[in-house]
Amino acid sequence: MKLLHIIASPRGESSRTIGISREFLSNLKKNNSDLVVDDLNLFEIELPEVLTDVASAKYALMQGSSVPEESKKTWAVVAKYSQEFLSYDAYLITSPMWNFTVPYKLKHYIDVIMQAGILFKFSENGVEGLAKNKKMFCVTSRGNDYSPGSYMHQFDFQEPYLRSIFGLAGIQDVSFINAQPLDIAPGLTIASIEKAKEEAKAMASK
Ligand SMILES: Cc1cc2nc3c(=O)[nH]c(=O)nc-3n(C[C@H](O)[C@H](O)[C@H](O)COP(=O)(O)O)c2cc1C
Repeated sequence: MKLLHIIASPRGESSRTIGISREFLSNLKKNNSDLVVDDLNLFEIELPEVLTDVASAKYALMQGSSVPEESKKTWAVVAKYSQEFLSYDAYLITSPMWNFTVPYKLKHYIDVIMQAGILFKFSENGVEGLAKNKKMFCVTSRGNDYSPGSYMHQFDFQEPYLRSIFGLAGIQDVSFINAQPLDIAPGLTIASIEKAKEEAKAMASK
């Protein structure tokens, strides 16, 4: 199994989210001897900007035309990111919550890879995802607690967003571990991380 580990925290060794994902991956490796993991640290790469050239190519392709000459160079990079994403069997997204949703680097990556004709297509039935039979694991961490039933739950635009956008690409088998609260109640931080690590172990054996 080939897994793409998409890292959306800039904090390296200090990142609690990455720590929980490591726990998940070491257990997943124990359970899958053929597992190959490629890291994609979104804070360490330069993604192509989604400017007029990329937008023009996107609209041209959606309308059945070819990529305009002036867009070809950037479009090739965009299409490569999208095709590379599609080439994996499984994904792990490691993402803290930033301002109720995903950090801007992850949003940027999603804006790059979500291309019609690669990750989804338009059909008579509407949009059809092309990333079929893939598995996605998401590990998030949050300063506050957005658990179902809590007042803050309504402000969780992270899990619903990730489920929706990757659902559009056809990825339906998505599991989440949300470590929370990690900042607002310092007395609970260690216990919340430990609980998330236990959940990570369980998710690795699913
Ligand atoms: C720029 C920024 C924005 C944040 N926004 C939120 C937020 O909207 N809600 C929340 O609960 N925590 C927020 N936090 C706190 C982080 O989600 C939390 O500390 C998380 O555990 C950080 O993960 P890390 O240790 O992997 O970096 C924010 C942190 C930063 C740096």
